[in-house]
Parts: sequence; C-alpha cells; structure tokens
Amino acid sequence: MSRGAEHGWAGWIARVERAAASERGPSILEGIADRVADHAFLHRGDSVLDLGAGTGLLTFKAARQVGRGGVVVALDADEECLQTLRVRGEAMGLENVSVHHGRMESLPLEAGSFDAVICRSALSYSADLHAAISEINRVLAPGGRFSLFEPLPGETTWSFATDLDAGRFMSMEHALREARGNSSLTRNVIRNMLESEFARVESLTVHYALSFAGRDEEELAEEYLYDLPGELGAFYVLKNVMKAEEIIESARWFARAASAGLVRGTLPCLFAWGGR
Ligand SMILES: C[S@@+](CC[C@H](N)C(=O)[O-])C[C@H]1O[C@@H](n2cnc3c(N)ncnc32)[C@H](O)[C@@H]1O
Repeated sequence: MSRGAEHGWAGWIARVERAAASERGPSILEGIADRVADHAFLHRGDSVLDLGAGTGLLTFKAARQVGRGGVVVALDADEECLQTLRVRGEAMGLENVSVHHGRMESLPLEAGSFDAVICRSALSYSADLHAAISEINRVLAPGGRFSLFEPLPGETTWSFATDLDAGRFMSMEHALREARGNSSLTRNVIRNMLESEFARVESLTVHYALSFAGRDEEELAEEYLYDLPGELGAFYVLKNVMKAEEIIESARWFARAASAGLVRGTLPCLFAWGGR
C-alpha cells in the first residue's frame, strides 16, 4: 500500500476526475462546478479569479462564460497542476486564461482587480483560512462576488451495521481529525468567517452519501489511507500519532466492512456565495 505517496495534487485530481467520469449519469464534479459558476453570476467581459484552480475544472467553465472580452486568472500553489491546466486550456483553444503561481493566503494580485472569485475544494487545504478569505475580499472590486464549494470533513458521519464493533476505527477517525486540525472545519466556521468579511453571504449544505458496497477491499483501504496527496494523506498524518501496523489494520477492517455494505457515510459539503 503505497499508491498515494508518489502522487501530487495533479495525479490526485486526475484520479478523482476518472472516478467521477466512470459513474453512471451526470458527473458529480461537473454538477458542482456548474453550481459554483451559477452562483458567481458571471457576465461576458468579467475578470474572474479561480482560487486553487488545480487542473482547471472551474477555470475552463468560467472562461467560456466570460468570453473573449473577459479573463480568468487560474491561481494555484502547485506547478504540476498549473502545467496541466496550461496544456488543457491550449488544447481547448481558450485564449482568455491567465495562469498564476501563488498561495491563496497572500495573493500576488492587485487589490480590487476582480469581478468575481470562484473556488472549488481548495480553501479547506489552506493553513490559514482566515487569511485566504480576507485575500478574496481584498482582490474583489466594489460590488464583486464570490462563489465557493467546500467539503466539510469535520461533519463527516459514519454508520455501521449494528453487530459491528467500530470502536477502534472510530478512535482512528477521531485521531485523524485532531491531527489534521480540521475537526473544526464545519459550515458554521466557514460561514462566520465569510460573514465577518462580506456584506452578503448565502449558503446551502448538500449531503453526499458515501457507499462502498461491492467495491474491491484493497482499493478501499488504499483510498482511505491515501485520501489526499503525499504527506497530506491520512496514513502520513496518522503515522505521527499511531503505529503504522495499527493504522493499516483499522483501514483494512473498514475496507472489509465497507465492501460488504456494512458501512455508510455522509459527507456534508457547503456551497457559499455572496459579495462585497
Ligand atoms: C482538491 S484540489 C481542487 C482543484 C480545483 N479547484 C478543482 O475543482 O478541480 C485542491 C487544489 O488547491 C490547491 N491548493 C492547496 N493549498 C493551496 C494554497 N495554500 N494556495 C493555493 N492553492 C492551494 C492545490 O494545489 C490543489 O490544486
């Protein structure tokens, strides 16, 4: 079990996109991106910042909406993601995308220079959420809008078949949230920070069901252990507070139960939008 170790964000995003594309029906990722773009109320000619743009899921959507007279700045801290984004954007013939390397906590961008800031699943990975949100406010022009989507790992819930003893697994889950320090990343934490910066804030929480029945056990254990790229992954984080054998044993226990359809999870996610 070592798959997650060599992947950075670009490989991780590619894996998530492949998984979403293999699902039946409309892609969940595309649906989320559509909703984030809709809540930003983009117009032709707008100047838009995609924060933590990754390989461009939201960037390209926004670039088509603002048209040739507008611009979308794709900002990310990961060079490999930005390189993939550049190549994809060129292949699509998009000429209104500008790629910037930088961190969301101290944006290398001028104050008041954007009509809208959009973001999908990137703020949660910031070491300083407060700084990142106040940077969004700084770079927005008067009347500017923001629209974002974030998973709420602090609100994930698991339910187990009644005859299972999930005590050890749940202790590990607790240790993981504590060690990551995002156990407090709930809808209220994000909303309160947004409300302290912006005049208008609206939000909607959506609950995604997590079901793993029939999935390959080994694959599920790997997904649990390497849920995020590199050293952000659960295994690396837990290794600081638990023995490696115990972590792997608990992950395998979870994978067996999940594959047998004895575990269900719920991941709440927040859409939030508004403006200055
Ligand atoms: C889950 S991916 C989402 C990417 C993209 N928004 C999407 O919807 O596909 C998270 C992204 O946030 C970026 N990121 C994480 N921390 C960051 C930071 N402090 N500043 C800028 N980007 C960051 C990562 O490099 C990664 O590309």
